[in-house]
Amino acid sequence: MVVAYHERTKHHFHRYAASPGYMDWATQPDPFRRYQGADLVRLPLAKSGWPLPYWQLYALGEVPSEPLSLESISLFFRYALSLTAWKRFHDTTWSLRANPSSGNLHPTEGYAVLPPIDRLGDAPAVYHYAPKEHALERRAILDATAWSELCAPFPEGSFLVGLSSIHWREAWKYGERAFRYCQHDAGHALATLRIAAAALGWSLVLLDGMSDGLIAALLGLSRDDDYGKAEREEPELLVLVTPGLPLTSPRLLDGLTARSIGAQWCGEANALSSEHSVNWPVIDEVAQATRRAASAPITEDFSGFPTYEELCGAPVHQRLLTAEKAILGRRSAVAMDGVTAISEEAFFRTLARLMPTRDGRSMPWDAIPWRPRIHLGLFVHRVEGVPPGLYALARDPGKLTALKEVMRGEFRWERLPSCPAGLPLYLLQERDCRALAATVSCGQHIAGDGAFSLGMIADYIDSLSTYGAAFYRNLFWEAGMVGQVLYLEAEEASIRSTGIGCYFDDPVHEVFGIASREWQSFYHFTAGGPLEDTRLTTLPAYDFEEPT
Ligand SMILES: Cc1cc2nc3c(=O)[nH]c(=O)nc-3n(C[C@H](O)[C@H](O)[C@H](O)COP(=O)(O)O)c2cc1C
Repeated sequence: MVVAYHERTKHHFHRYAASPGYMDWATQPDPFRRYQGADLVRLPLAKSGWPLPYWQLYALGEVPSEPLSLESISLFFRYALSLTAWKRFHDTTWSLRANPSSGNLHPTEGYAVLPPIDRLGDAPAVYHYAPKEHALERRAILDATAWSELCAPFPEGSFLVGLSSIHWREAWKYGERAFRYCQHDAGHALATLRIAAAALGWSLVLLDGMSDGLIAALLGLSRDDDYGKAEREEPELLVLVTPGLPLTSPRLLDGLTARSIGAQWCGEANALSSEHSVNWPVIDEVAQATRRAASAPITEDFSGFPTYEELCGAPVHQRLLTAEKAILGRRSAVAMDGVTAISEEAFFRTLARLMPTRDGRSMPWDAIPWRPRIHLGLFVHRVEGVPPGLYALARDPGKLTALKEVMRGEFRWERLPSCPAGLPLYLLQERDCRALAATVSCGQHIAGDGAFSLGMIADYIDSLSTYGAAFYRNLFWEAGMVGQVLYLEAEEASIRSTGIGCYFDDPVHEVFGIASREWQSFYHFTAGGPLEDTRLTTLPAYDFEEPT
């Protein structure tokens, strides 16, 4: 089912994946889910200006851990899932968020299961995050004893965060390919959660052995009565956030069952569209085929990976950009200027941040337990000191031989003399690939007019046979996480990035000579000097901010 879905949702030169082909504005989904009848607790909005330098996000252990409080939870959600601006063009306004989304449709919903916190609630509870209000809606109050037993194995102050997807929001515009985009967006949000935790000195790990059924029960997504005519949410993932030291192998929430948490629920979900004029049954089918049963958590060996020093050459301590500016100021470029070049130092640093390290402590890769399954095929256009051409980054150095075997035989696989010793970056072919990059990205000029763009090549079939069909989602999550780091790194390099979900799948494989169906392109990205759309007005995300 998964392979069939992936094949039928490919874009081809002669045929795009099935979609409505137009925007049915009358049924445009509401981007904001609310639970009517649930208490809304507004989160205090601190004035902007948290001074943490951007580079410290990656220096684990150096950021002092903030105590769990209403203020720190507020900052956590602000950095992870909040609105960051409103945009206006004539009479139309729309909001942007810390987490990006394909078509800005935002299928991802966020939840938290929190202990009693002063001014938030005096009992442990399940909350839904409402980004428009920057508030938590209290969906359920939990039995205090059950909560303490559940959390007994975890450090004091630990809490859970869950993500779900509302497929309809993406399917409304993108049709059958929408399931892929929902998974990309969940991956971006997983990274924004990890990055937000890092800013507060907290660690965060994916509880990868949890079944979807349990996540749905814990977050209230399986409660038929609370949804009525409202669009249902698909459980995606659950993470454990701990204020203290990292947990290397988090225990499963063994004792957890829907009944054992003893929840009292309230709130009814709003319907997002008045009607659904078209349905895409294959999305339900692939969702069903990729649901996760409970399993032992993945544990893998990272001893063959480079150290931080081997990856970066010299330690990266740039002090100009704050973490907050990068996180809240991140934006997608809508067009690239076709001239801006970046330094090779910025290029290598960006790629180094996409790599896990030997000690398993590189952020955000410490949040997921599997070795990278997403590798990069790069189109380099304008990087000083780096010849234009096709390159490969083997994000798992152990997969280098496999990548060489699957790609074009005539590729050179040469190291650049200036590249840090531990960064597995290889020159494949020197050439001007600007037009090629744009062509395979559905003709989008942003892929050719930037400093570089890339295709994310997934070690696809081997991943599915190793971890099971549910891991189809994880491949998109990992790709989304790569993308989120690229977004922030672009801010650090004073350029901009853009995720590219629209690309021609098989023509990308052809560029790299990949004939085997076992390796597939899962996402595209571009980075370069942006061209601003000066017709748009930018308004503050929330009332307290000054207009920019
Ligand atoms: C999974 C994904 C796919 C995307 N695909 C494209 C694309 O093909 N072309 C494009 O111009 N932008 C694309 N974007 C960028 C979105 O349009 C952008 O994230 C959204 O409009 C919100 O703007 P922001 O990123 O500035 O918050 C994509 C973003 C994501 C997360």
